[in-house]
Amino acid sequence: MNMLYILLLSLYLSSCTADDPLGNFCNENTNINSTSQVSLNIDRLLAEVVSKTSLTGYIAISSGKAPDKVYGLAQCRGDVSSKDCSTCIQDAAKQIRQSCPNQADARIWYDYCFLRYSTQNFIGEVDTSNGILYGNVANVTDPKSFKKQLGALMDNIRSEAVMPNTQGLGKAKTKLSPFVTLYALVQCTRDLSKINCAQCLAIAVENFENFCDSRKGCRVLYSSCYVRYELYPFFFPLDSNNGTSVGKTVRIFRP
Ligand SMILES: *[C@@H]1O[C@H](CO)[C@@H](O)[C@H](O)[C@H]1NC(C)=O
Ligand SMILES: *[C@@H]1O[C@H](CO)[C@@H](O)[C@H](O)[C@H]1NC(C)=O
Ligand SMILES: *[C@@H]1O[C@H](CO)[C@@H](O)[C@H](O)[C@H]1NC(C)=O
Repeated sequence: MNMLYILLLSLYLSSCTADDPLGNFCNENTNINSTSQVSLNIDRLLAEVVSKTSLTGYIAISSGKAPDKVYGLAQCRGDVSSKDCSTCIQDAAKQIRQSCPNQADARIWYDYCFLRYSTQNFIGEVDTSNGILYGNVANVTDPKSFKKQLGALMDNIRSEAVMPNTQGLGKAKTKLSPFVTLYALVQCTRDLSKINCAQCLAIAVENFENFCDSRKGCRVLYSSCYVRYELYPFFFPLDSNNGTSVGKTVRIFRP
């Protein structure tokens, strides 16, 4: 079991702009020179990722020849438009090279997309290392009934995500009261088998016990899956928001 290391603990306003990354990971054990063949292969790979990902919202490719071969994966959240997907991937490709200029293994998370590359072939494998957790600092007033309804909603969308033709996406909402609606979304990267997707989501949801607890909103971002719930609309098509405040969130990085 992973120890929980709190590397980053700072307050963010959820209203910060959509083009800010939620986090990144540069594997310091994979240092490379910016003039190396691997680095050139990364640049080629990113160019292809930028031009092709938004066509279907997903790409898994490689670039170059062994031993300098680089594998890459990019995916947008299944509910975002191809325009938003394209913008997110462009930002991600630019930012990841600025954040991790000398690493062969790098990852970057945004709300609308995720991008990753490595000289190791990771395609198809569940990866729940290096997670990023975001939680609303406010708690719900009735944790017991909230957790029950959240659990039921999560069960529904987790089984949706592993059904054929959902492309790893599950999303739904449920009314907790006439004025309060709970929204939730889960997504696996499309390279995963249904079994691997279910496994990733199960590990992600384990964080509900400790980190998410009775928070009003929470996000778990892994390299292989994404899980989020909020008491305000956040996925598309977007419901009109009945004035629920978004609130402050706290972020931790979990190696
Ligand atoms: C990068 O290049 C410099 C100069 O050519 C060399 O001394 C160094 O060992 C290289 N570093 C790596 C990680 O390959
Ligand atoms: C929320 O609940 C947790 C534990 O259940 C508690 O530690 C924390 O202080 C609460 N936060 C607020 C803002 O009340
Ligand atoms: C917003 O409030 C109105 C009036 O109270 C209600 O009819 C509507 O269903 C609410 N919308 C959502 C998304 O909760």
